[in-house]
Amino acid sequence: MLKYMLFAVVVVAATLPWIAMATATGEPWFCHGLDCPGYTVLSQANGYEVRRYNESQWARTLVKGVDYDDAVQKGFKRLFNYISGDNVDNEKIEMTAPVQVRIDAGQGPFCDSNFTVSFMVPFANQPNPPKPTEKDIYIAVDKAHIAYVTSFPGFAKQNDVLDAAVNLTQALQRDNVSFNSSHFYFAGYDSPFRIVNRHNEVWFWKL
Ligand SMILES: *[C@@H]1O[C@H](CO)[C@@H](O)[C@H](O)[C@H]1NC(C)=O
Ligand SMILES: *[C@@H]1O[C@H](CO)[C@@H](O)[C@H](O)[C@H]1NC(C)=O
Ligand SMILES: *[C@@H]1O[C@H](CO)[C@@H](O)[C@H](O)[C@H]1NC(C)=O
Ligand SMILES: *[C@@H]1O[C@H](CO)[C@@H](O)[C@H](O)[C@H]1NC(C)=O
Ligand SMILES: *[C@@H]1O[C@H](CO)[C@@H](O)[C@H](O)[C@H]1NC(C)=O
Repeated sequence: MLKYMLFAVVVVAATLPWIAMATATGEPWFCHGLDCPGYTVLSQANGYEVRRYNESQWARTLVKGVDYDDAVQKGFKRLFNYISGDNVDNEKIEMTAPVQVRIDAGQGPFCDSNFTVSFMVPFANQPNPPKPTEKDIYIAVDKAHIAYVTSFPGFAKQNDVLDAAVNLTQALQRDNVSFNSSHFYFAGYDSPFRIVNRHNEVWFWKL
């Protein structure tokens, strides 16, 4: 198994020029061929990008807790079951990117935060997403919106996510940009088995 993964990594590394070319066709390189939410870049600022996202439907689950990594793992597992067939159509649903985590921070130390973990519904299912059979999964719309986005590579741990959110907050404040600071989003585009070219984002939404 591990041998296969390492093989896959080498193959990915060898096809880099091809990936760079693929970006010319419109999809961001970091989606690696998976369906991912459509956006247009409105501008580039120092430390962030301004994007207008299209409306899209997501499968979503809320996990309350104090530990980010635990919560994301729990949410991911539930959503993975949903796309593996835990839906009224017993349909296997394609994986998409990114895994989106909305973070509503608790009001004090050791207070529960809300981690809302989501998978985008694939384009083919957007008009009619299969209904979840588990009560803790629901389908929700992200309306078209403008997001301020900062990116970083590597394996994203809780501290990296918080770092990125702090950096983005400072950049937006520096530029007098108004944003909804009551919550923010993490977007992780890669499986744990991708070793190189990992891509992560933190988003604040425009007010
Ligand atoms: C956003 O939606 C519009 C209207 O449906 C569509 O024409 C456009 O291609 C979409 N943009 C992206 C980047 O997906
Ligand atoms: C978490 O979600 C619940 C609703 O399920 C809400 O009552 C609570 O205020 C939220 N907590 C935070 C920190 O946003
Ligand atoms: C946050 O900014 C610091 C200082 O510029 C930088 O070293 C760090 O890599 C940034 N962290 C993230 C996750 O972007
Ligand atoms: C932000 O607002 C402050 C105070 O109103 C002003 O001094 C500063 O020039 C503004 N900065 C930018 C980048 O607009
Ligand atoms: C900001 O987000 C919070 C939820 O975290 C929401 O209740 C509030 O309405 C938003 N504020 C604005 C001005 O949209």
